[in-house]
Amino acid sequence: MKITYYGHACFMVEDGKYRILFDPFLKNNPLVRIDPKDVTVDAILVTHGHFDHTGDAVEISKANRAPIIAPFELTTYFQSKGAITHPMNIGGAYTFPFGRVKLTIAHHGSTTEAGPAGNPCGFLVTMGGKVLYHAGDTGLFYDMKLIGEMNPIDVALLPIGDNFTMGIPDAIKAVEFLKPKIAIPMHYDTFDMIKQDPKQFVEGLRGSSTKGVLLLIGESLSL
Ligand code: NI
Ligand code: MN
Repeated sequence: MKITYYGHACFMVEDGKYRILFDPFLKNNPLVRIDPKDVTVDAILVTHGHFDHTGDAVEISKANRAPIIAPFELTTYFQSKGAITHPMNIGGAYTFPFGRVKLTIAHHGSTTEAGPAGNPCGFLVTMGGKVLYHAGDTGLFYDMKLIGEMNPIDVALLPIGDNFTMGIPDAIKAVEFLKPKIAIPMHYDTFDMIKQDPKQFVEGLRGSSTKGVLLLIGESLSL
């Protein structure tokens, strides 16, 4: 599995055959220089309806004829924009050609400019023999312990920006619950309100069984 950070909560995940993209926010992200037109994917996974997660999803879906996988209410919004979708909901899993996806809870909001968009989610993805957890935008919750007990997580992608989501101390606690082999911080620095020093997250994991890995925008990790 190869994971590439596209800034904010956006990651490309590939297994050599398939490519999936989480929460594309490229064109309007001041820190990102990636053109959505250059992105090729088999599926797009969107955690909730906020603009910094839905960003370029419709454009990339149409250009690639790739489905947007998201909570049901959010898929109805994407359908109204002409995108192909695959609706799911919390606790449900489905096996796609690229791998298995399960939706987890996330404590956050979910609205688009068209109105409420159901519940936000996180994603557990099994692909290429590895298990990846994208937490979405969320506060810390104790059920992360259950997610960790039931799933041998290879990589956890966790928000650390504070203000809208977990901050660094809570994200370190989340790692303790989830017990992933690797934890990668996300959802920081994009806006003034979420400025953080991600090195504090990586340093906070020293001595634990999880390795913190900091990816700069455009950088990849292979495992
Ligand atoms: Ni959000
Ligand atoms: Mn967000």
